[in-house]
Amino acid sequence: MYLKAPTGCDKYIPYIEKITLGIIAAMDVLVVGSGGREHALAWKLKQSPRIGKLYIAPGNGGTSTLGENVPIGQMEFEKLAQFAQEKKVGLTVVGPDDPLVGGIVDVFKARGLRIWGPSREAAQIEGSKAFSKQFMHEAKIPTAEFAVFSNAALALAHVRVKGAPIVIKASGLSLGKGVYVCRDLTEAERAITEIMVERVHNDAGNEVVIEEYLDGPEISIHALTDGYSHILFPASQDHKPIGDGDVGENTGGMGTIAPVPWVTPEMMSSVEGQIVTPTFEALKKNGIQFQGLLYPGLKVTLGGLEVLEYNARFGDPETQVYMRLLKTDLLDLLEASVDGTIDALRTKIEWHRGFAANIVIASGGYPGEYKKELPITGIEDAEKVEGVVTFHAGTKIENGQVVTAGGRVLGVSAIGGTLKQALDRAYEAVGEIYFEGMYFRRDIGAKSLSA
Ligand code: AMP
Ligand code: GLY
Repeated sequence: MYLKAPTGCDKYIPYIEKITLGIIAAMDVLVVGSGGREHALAWKLKQSPRIGKLYIAPGNGGTSTLGENVPIGQMEFEKLAQFAQEKKVGLTVVGPDDPLVGGIVDVFKARGLRIWGPSREAAQIEGSKAFSKQFMHEAKIPTAEFAVFSNAALALAHVRVKGAPIVIKASGLSLGKGVYVCRDLTEAERAITEIMVERVHNDAGNEVVIEEYLDGPEISIHALTDGYSHILFPASQDHKPIGDGDVGENTGGMGTIAPVPWVTPEMMSSVEGQIVTPTFEALKKNGIQFQGLLYPGLKVTLGGLEVLEYNARFGDPETQVYMRLLKTDLLDLLEASVDGTIDALRTKIEWHRGFAANIVIASGGYPGEYKKELPITGIEDAEKVEGVVTFHAGTKIENGQVVTAGGRVLGVSAIGGTLKQALDRAYEAVGEIYFEGMYFRRDIGAKSLSA
């Protein structure tokens, strides 16, 4: 096992040698967030030979088994910074979009604290769809034709002219639920009324983006950057609608696979050349320093690749499959992103061979209303299935019992030599888990198996 050498030293020193020399400094890390993504990040960070104490704020039932859950909310920036300062945390890692868009990184940096993630200014690329569509338009990055409205009557007039199918999006953050793919005009009118008149997404609906409907499969792209250079991860694929066959309401994501078997190296070159590199160049040209993870969601259409949206963070549940496949120490990668040394790791990053799948188990009723505090059984039996790790999302532990505490409850991940093996293992493990009303999609990865 090898470790990154201390800054200023160009060669890798064997880990055992470093222990003997007593030069391994353990680093305490704080992970901000409480979802499956944060459990997966904490799970991988815990494996770093350099990890000291691991704190997760506020964390969930699963993260409490890896480190110390800290009862501070993800939007309580001053309290989080105070905690990091008091505990001499060496690196804070931010999972979710809300604190990034809200400026957590700026608050930490103002206090001289080391934090991984983009600044508030850079996170706008996710925080405002109106901003990101304009950015893509100016940078000539392929994306659906669009118009932005802050007036409901004008928005309605526009959809009547354009006709259906058409896509209506609340511009701000709305937990992945502010996007309406409308098959007819009645649906489109209903979406505009919900967003702009009934204001079901609150201020996120101050503006709507109305865009052309794009047909084709979707892929998730992840590029880790220090603002100068970047590392492109293999493509992954989420399944956002609640129902099998991609029907029903959009969710935060119901299941992922990686790598996507039909995404060829040529397609990845196009992703790099047409989307990732031009995006980073345009950010720089606009004077925006982006340090962190850029995750463009893409549609693969007959006419080529199109960007659906940018995210300024790791995907959830994409992270769950990436962390199962990543061989390299995550702490090394995140520190390189903070320290501006990504270029040195570009050719050194290693992935396990094979595939990973992650099946999300949600509360019955999600993405609408659902019950909480329901006891969950079978997690230990699920993890007895070869290659399986269960990541918690909306869970907490009450009197020693894991109970539900959110919409997306668990992510059951598995690795396998083939995609089919990974999926079979993950579904076998899902079969061991039970809570009242639990719901999961039964077709995660199915289209890629038959592609
Ligand atoms: P977004 O949050 O913008 O990625 O949208 C959520 C989901 O809505 C995407 O994953 C797509 O499934 C769907 N979607 C968004 N924009 C479009 C579009 N222009 N055409 C077709 N589907 C779309
Ligand atoms: N995979 C969906 C998201 O993270 O937004």
